[in-house]
Amino acid sequence: MGSFDELEQIREQALVDLTGASTTAALEAWEDRYLGRKGEITLRARTVGQLPQENRPAFGQRVNEIKRLLVQAYEARAEEISHAELETRLATEAIDVTLPGRPVTPGHLHLTTQALRELYAIFGKMGFEVYEAPDVELEAYNFDLLNIPEYHPARDMWDTFWVKETGEGPSNRRLLRTHTSPGQIRAMRERCPEPIRVILPGKCYRYEQITVRAEHQFYQLEGLAVGRGITMTDLIGTIAQFARMFYGPDRTVRVRGSYFPFTEPSVEVDTECILCGGKGCPVCKYTGWLEVAGAGMVHPVVLENGGYDPETWSGFAFGFGVERPSMMKYNVQDIRWFYGNDLRFLRRF
Ligand code: PHE
Repeated sequence: MGSFDELEQIREQALVDLTGASTTAALEAWEDRYLGRKGEITLRARTVGQLPQENRPAFGQRVNEIKRLLVQAYEARAEEISHAELETRLATEAIDVTLPGRPVTPGHLHLTTQALRELYAIFGKMGFEVYEAPDVELEAYNFDLLNIPEYHPARDMWDTFWVKETGEGPSNRRLLRTHTSPGQIRAMRERCPEPIRVILPGKCYRYEQITVRAEHQFYQLEGLAVGRGITMTDLIGTIAQFARMFYGPDRTVRVRGSYFPFTEPSVEVDTECILCGGKGCPVCKYTGWLEVAGAGMVHPVVLENGGYDPETWSGFAFGFGVERPSMMKYNVQDIRWFYGNDLRFLRRF
């Protein structure tokens, strides 16, 4: 134990073994064996304390010298090996730069998103800001406050998806909004007593049979303007301007009397069929006209529910379908394709 001879033997053996190690793995094993925590050299260094006093300095010094020497030899060998390994890899592995690359297929915006953004831009130019309202709505906002009380026949116009979790009292039940009009009340209650000019985009839900023309979820774009002295002329002017910007400068707009509980008077807005230009075709069912929006002057009861005195304030509101105009514009024959996630359809736009 602790003899100089043994130490020199270990050194010689270590150097021989090192030359024999020709892979990274073998090199690691070698390091473990000689220089590791339980390696030969490390163990010898620990025995210094047990030697006779007079031998300790010389032995300790020699152990340290050998350790340094082996570490140096190890590093040199490691360098050689990694160099050699790289050489073999370069020689054996080859990159065929003539292979065709993998195509990068970036996604793009959904047709509905594109349509919404176009609508935001058009109404933005007319001074409307986007106002977001929730999809899960209180019954009160979706119906009662819009002048549609519980037993009003107009509730039949919207077959409703109800949310299981219910609040207190009949008007606090939750539902998936059947139209974007409840956002009118939210915008009014938040902005009162300031004038308002907002558009409210969003998904609407109706418990309906799905057909080529009707989905149970679809987008609407609501518009609301509240101010002093706003008239029907402002509504018609806004819709006409929209139609010119969205469908083209020569588009004729027609306004027909209609009924909604939350507007008075109420109208329905048609444009000349964009496919046949008004001559008559299957898309417009040979009428020459396409229905694009419901609209009207905000009902005094609704203004009051929003916090505005109908004696001094007035306003108009409109609601567009978002998918319908795209269907017209791109001749999409089935509304179910919008949310069917079929890439063959989505990639067309
Ligand atoms: N909310 C109505 C619908 O869903 C559309 C509408 C909006 C009508 C605003 C008048 C005013 O059909």
